[in-house]
Amino acid sequence: MTAAAAIVGWGTALPDGRVTNADLEARVDTSDEWIVERTGIRERRVVGPGETTASLAVEAATHAIKRAGLTPSDIDLMIVATVTPEQPIPHTGAFVGETLGLRCGSFDMNAACAGFVYELVVGASMLQMGYDHVLIIGAETLSRIIDPEDRTTTVIFGDGAGAAVLAPTRETPGLLAWDLGCDGSAAALLEVRAGGSRLPASAATVEGREHYLKMAGQEVFRRAVRVVVDSASSTLARAGVDASEVAWFVPHQANQRIIDAAGNRLGFESERTLVNIDRVGNTSSASIPLALFEAVDDGRVRDGDLVLCSGFGAGMTWASALLRWGAR
Ligand code: UT7
Repeated sequence: MTAAAAIVGWGTALPDGRVTNADLEARVDTSDEWIVERTGIRERRVVGPGETTASLAVEAATHAIKRAGLTPSDIDLMIVATVTPEQPIPHTGAFVGETLGLRCGSFDMNAACAGFVYELVVGASMLQMGYDHVLIIGAETLSRIIDPEDRTTTVIFGDGAGAAVLAPTRETPGLLAWDLGCDGSAAALLEVRAGGSRLPASAATVEGREHYLKMAGQEVFRRAVRVVVDSASSTLARAGVDASEVAWFVPHQANQRIIDAAGNRLGFESERTLVNIDRVGNTSSASIPLALFEAVDDGRVRDGDLVLCSGFGAGMTWASALLRWGAR
């Protein structure tokens, strides 16, 4: 199973605000040494007043539409992947679409840090339904749901967005294989408990800090390495492609040690692995597009390269996709 879909435009957005490890040392009981050694992160970018998930999404999408040589009216469908929506109702795409001037269909997707790869696959399938241009966006403001007093999460997460325009290909299938999955038995490992139908927001939930993200870091870590290796391997097997033929491995930027462990097991040396976690931290659904499009823009990823993206996150979701960059 392949899909005649390719990324024909791309864009990213990072807020100007920076939080360094030194800034965190002043706020919680941590150290630059611990954070660098245990996560690989040196700084993360965070939104300031007036910046939101939708504003980052609009910036990334504007670049992607322009890079594709299109105007917003050419977009037939938009999907926004986020775990930090603009607000509970309506969906974030409503705000993004209004600013971009879109009136096409749009919906949000919550597949956590696997979100961008999920929407890559869903977007490609919508091209098979007859759409010409599908805009997919991964946008997050995790700083708005992180407990500033929780040292295990505040050191990891950052804000950002990545967007891509998908279009059908005529010559070669751009999407060679994919794998999507979710193991809900791990749902409690990474969650925001309050604010939904199960535990509506109240003064008590705020008092109990249940509106913040909670993570069982070690257990997520263990499962993450396993699911990335399994999902990436089955994607390669479905395409009949060996890891040695892949030019770039683009893992979700969750922790440098997860990236290294999964890369080692899959057979990707650091030279073939795209990493930007040191500068942006873990940006959930924005993480894979930020790492990939930085490498496209600086010329490392070239037309014809095979690119293997693999993400995992709350749910616990996972998603991998093997692309041929520049497929026409
Ligand atoms: O993107 C979604 C998926 N999320 C992830 O993939 C995150 C996966 N998990 C991780 O990245 C890691 O588990 C963490 C970075 C969150 C934690 O690293 P770890 O190596 O698993 O640390 P740990 O939880 O085993 O804790 C080791 C020690 C503990 O102290 P004791 O009990 O040994 O005295 C922690 O209390 O490190 C302590 N610790 C810290 N120390 C300084 C935990 N966080 C910090 C901190 N600074 N920020």
